[in-house]
Amino acid sequence: MEKISLNFEKTLDFVSKEAVFGYAEELQKNNEALHNKTGKGNDFLGWVNLPTSISEAELADYEATAKALQDKKIEVFVVVGIGGSYLGAKAVVDALSDSFAQLKGSDKPLILFAGQNIGEDYLYELRELLKTKEYAMAVISKSGTTTEPALAFRLLKQDIEDKYGKEEAVSRIVAVTDAERGALKQLATSEGYKTYVIPDDVGGRYSVLTPVGLLAIAVAGFDIRALVQGAVDMEKSTGVDVPFEENMASQYAAVRNELYKSGKMIEIMVNYNPKLHFFAEWWKQLYGESEGKEGKGIFPASVDFTSDLHSMGQYIQEGERKLFETVLTIASPDRDVRVPSDEANLDSLNYLAGKRVDEVNKMAELGTMIAHVDGGVPNILIELPKMNEYYLGQLIYFFEKACGLSGYTLGVNPFDQPGVEAYKKNMFALLEKPGFEEATKEIKARL
Ligand code: PA5
Repeated sequence: MEKISLNFEKTLDFVSKEAVFGYAEELQKNNEALHNKTGKGNDFLGWVNLPTSISEAELADYEATAKALQDKKIEVFVVVGIGGSYLGAKAVVDALSDSFAQLKGSDKPLILFAGQNIGEDYLYELRELLKTKEYAMAVISKSGTTTEPALAFRLLKQDIEDKYGKEEAVSRIVAVTDAERGALKQLATSEGYKTYVIPDDVGGRYSVLTPVGLLAIAVAGFDIRALVQGAVDMEKSTGVDVPFEENMASQYAAVRNELYKSGKMIEIMVNYNPKLHFFAEWWKQLYGESEGKEGKGIFPASVDFTSDLHSMGQYIQEGERKLFETVLTIASPDRDVRVPSDEANLDSLNYLAGKRVDEVNKMAELGTMIAHVDGGVPNILIELPKMNEYYLGQLIYFFEKACGLSGYTLGVNPFDQPGVEAYKKNMFALLEKPGFEEATKEIKARL
């Protein structure tokens, strides 16, 4: 099996190899704690063995549902969800899609999202678009009580029923939620929607390899079996029986914790392929919500290079020296585009004639890494042989495993998110939600 790879050579001017390898024993214990469910947040460890436990019947079921929806000749599939109920599918679909698919008349549905914000204009514009399209939707919420998707779904549910009639609308809606609890479960049962269950022990940001992510990825026309196979192979190669020297999840956890200890408090996920923009958004949620607590944690940020070299590049090169970068690179692109020769050479680019565009991109990448390291920014490199379902599956599980390991090394519970409640409480108080009367009085007195 070819694997994605991790290279942290370009951090070794800042932290020593001995110090990184010094984490080996602790990470072995942390890995055992994840597998034996003996660490913090151990009721949310269903993701650890999730890839190897996905059955053939489950995959066939997601594929059958996707096909039934595609057979309705839908042009758009709307995924209603936020956080972990949206970012994984968005990350994978964007990474694998033609950048201009919707303008090229693709025969596969375009995946759009709702309930990932409360933008009134966004919702208005989406609803206007949907009036003109054939569509279906999934409503996804693990808790079944999250306000943003509930609000969007209330509007979109009425629209889809108005457009297709109640019975047909029911066949175009899939709910993905908790087995028993939450308003969405009740709604799905009473309306008779096809419903998938998010396992109790898999938290939102670790749920992309459940129907939360797999259904939309299948509807978009991508190979969920290859995605899961990639995750299966990475699950095996980061298991407790794999020594630190060969376990890339443990090594990544070790090097970023050592960098953090040395004062590097901000990790920037860098890509040189715009299709990975939302992969970094998924990664930011995974690491930000898992590690940012108890006054601790590396702040996860992201940039798209080379675009952002013309905006954030200056800061990264010469600003506060609290940064390190993790560069996601794709060894070979799918397409071959070469720079043509030009007789007049007025743009002076003939020195590039005959080269692939990717060769220019790769030299930008290498040149930037060297410059940033020289400027005091350590670089970690993660390479995918190709951008496809299989390697993305590896990458997803790699980051999940490393996140659990890294959170334990930091000493936090990587599987809760108590801080997310603070804004909700204030929002509900300000909106005068029943049950929040005291909080309403308190917050209004502060205005
Ligand atoms: O990681 C998490 O658990 C959260 O970020 C959730 O994904 C997010 O809050 C959405 O929650 P839900 O799926 O319950 O609507």
